[in-house]
Amino acid sequence: MTLAELENAKAESLQEIAAAADAAAVEALRVKYVGRNGSIPALIKAMKDVPKEERPAFGKAVQAWRAEVEAALAAKGAGSAGEKAVDADLTLPGRWRSLGVKHPLSRVIEETAAIFGKLGFTVADGPELENRFNNFTALNTPAHHPSMDRSDTFWFGDDCLLRTQTSPVQIRTMMQNKPPIRVICPGRTYRRDTTDATHSANFHQIEGLYVDTKPVSLADLKSVLAYFAKEMMGDGVTVRFRPHFFPFTEPSVEVDFSCHVCKGKGCAVCKQSGWIEVAGAGMVDPRVFRHVGYDPAEVSGYAFGFGVERIAMIKYGIPDIRWLYENDVRFLSQLA
Ligand code: DAH
Repeated sequence: MTLAELENAKAESLQEIAAAADAAAVEALRVKYVGRNGSIPALIKAMKDVPKEERPAFGKAVQAWRAEVEAALAAKGAGSAGEKAVDADLTLPGRWRSLGVKHPLSRVIEETAAIFGKLGFTVADGPELENRFNNFTALNTPAHHPSMDRSDTFWFGDDCLLRTQTSPVQIRTMMQNKPPIRVICPGRTYRRDTTDATHSANFHQIEGLYVDTKPVSLADLKSVLAYFAKEMMGDGVTVRFRPHFFPFTEPSVEVDFSCHVCKGKGCAVCKQSGWIEVAGAGMVDPRVFRHVGYDPAEVSGYAFGFGVERIAMIKYGIPDIRWLYENDVRFLSQLA
């Protein structure tokens, strides 16, 4: 097609469109000229056969033709036929889509970070693959301690293991920082436990650590945990300490929350005792300070650690730990 022929074809097409009597005629012309197999796309495809020196001018003319045809078609209402045919009942309610909800474990971790954040604690992180020193030795765990057994801990060689607790993050944090230190350390932990309603080989803990050059006491620890208990479990929940032993704290305590369900009167949740065990805690042992290069004569501090699953289970009344890992929407959506 020469340029002159193109101009003729263009004039003809515009006349045809102007003369189109109804929507069907307009649509037929749309297909004829600019449809997928229409004459204008065909010309564009054939452009490679046009002599090179004529190609720019020819290309321009084809594009101009296309633009004019499209404008003419639009003026005749092409394309709106489909819209007119839409047969929708606009009074129907919209389609409901469920919003995602946060997993109970994520909630407990985020709420804990927010509660301790108000007390000046920041969140510290550490690797799940640890070495013997950070997970055991620096935490004053004796070399023969059963927790180091191959049957209790996932070892990779002699010095590499999946951390059995979040306490090694205490060690890392103290080695990298100077007191005062106020951190909580949430994360995954691993033990060679057989899975049942209350055990999982992979669970979560939150560690807490406060170290300062001014004296820190067990009373400070208790008041902070009492605040946490109230914020996490609700007004009226209190804490009590029971003497215990951990290698990395001295003295060591186990921490109970008063039962948030029966308010301490005794019920099935607290096994009639009025109390629920939630955490281990204590004053950081001087040997731990020495392992991280601190002088126990100059610093003191407390530490605590608790299971995220345990808090989630008592807070939300979840009877089986496995429900937390199955991601069954019937379970998860109940927190919406
Ligand atoms: N790491 C302990 C455990 O896994 C929990 C714990 C107890 C952490 C006492 C502490 C602590 O920081 O002071 O059983």
